[in-house]
Amino acid sequence: MKTEELALRIEGLTERLGCMEKRLATVEKTAGGAQAPAPAPKQPQPKQARQPWKMDAARVETMVAEMYSSVRNDPQEALSFETGARDCYLPAHARNVSKLAMFLADRHGFSEASTRTMGICGLLHDAGMDCLPHELTTEGRPLTQEEYQQVRTHPTLGAEYIKHNYRFGSLLSSVIPVVVEQHHERADGTGYPNGLPGDRIHNFARVLAIADSYEAMTTPRPFRSPRHPADAMRTLLVQGCHSHQAGMYDRSMLKTFLWSSSLYPVGCTVGLSDGNLACVVSVTADPKQPVIKLLTGDRSGQVVNLTQHNELTITGGRNGDFEARRPAKKT
Ligand SMILES: [Fe+2]
Ligand SMILES: [Fe+2]
Repeated sequence: MKTEELALRIEGLTERLGCMEKRLATVEKTAGGAQAPAPAPKQPQPKQARQPWKMDAARVETMVAEMYSSVRNDPQEALSFETGARDCYLPAHARNVSKLAMFLADRHGFSEASTRTMGICGLLHDAGMDCLPHELTTEGRPLTQEEYQQVRTHPTLGAEYIKHNYRFGSLLSSVIPVVVEQHHERADGTGYPNGLPGDRIHNFARVLAIADSYEAMTTPRPFRSPRHPADAMRTLLVQGCHSHQAGMYDRSMLKTFLWSSSLYPVGCTVGLSDGNLACVVSVTADPKQPVIKLLTGDRSGQVVNLTQHNELTITGGRNGDFEARRPAKKT
């Protein structure tokens, strides 16, 4: 096992342990001790603010460097998402978004320096969520209107947090908070916190918006199941191009995403016109006809380029079509 993989696993375990400790502390607090007096009638408790995710600039840059070399030009690695703990998914979400944002930036022709900056923005984009009550990310139900309004403050809170806690050098230190503050802005002006039109949204924030939305749709949350990657891709394309005017997302960046990972994103399981299942392994010039590896049937294990086999087509890739909805980890 590579050192970086080992470090990531240890980091994941540490996060889970941290979450378990928090829960244990809550249980102990609630249970009291053997000598504790009988519990008082339940009073509404003020919501506790979680400590922001502590990670210094040097550690962030090291993580980005490790991920950059593994995801560059490798869609399967970029789209192989970790699943965080049910009540502590933000750190895994940040790493997933960082990887995908770097992959998209690289494929879109960004320089190496800009691509790495995208990675940093991806890692820190939801730092503001840690300034909000923990319950807002763990409740297994849709948020109330009031809670939703609180969540909408996280881009601004995150930008402020980064300004005061990170030193990346003068250029990056001015760009990263802007990108973080704009990651929920949408090209058609429907985003938040400022409802900016597309031409006022930083180029990096447009990349981040796509990576963030795709990751959020395809990984589980406490209140909903993940969607099939192909379903998420279709949703992004529809939302990005829903009118002749601006859609929610940057069209040229969406095009890059589509052509670099196919309409059935690399790594996901799809159904075929002959009734068998396959895994998408790489892209071709036609986003509807990627290269697949057959998973069932007489030819199981065989790799097929669908552009050379017009008799075989992909017929399924929607939520609920298959058991395996998420891209498989590369073997
Ligand atoms: Fe966010
Ligand atoms: Fe996010």
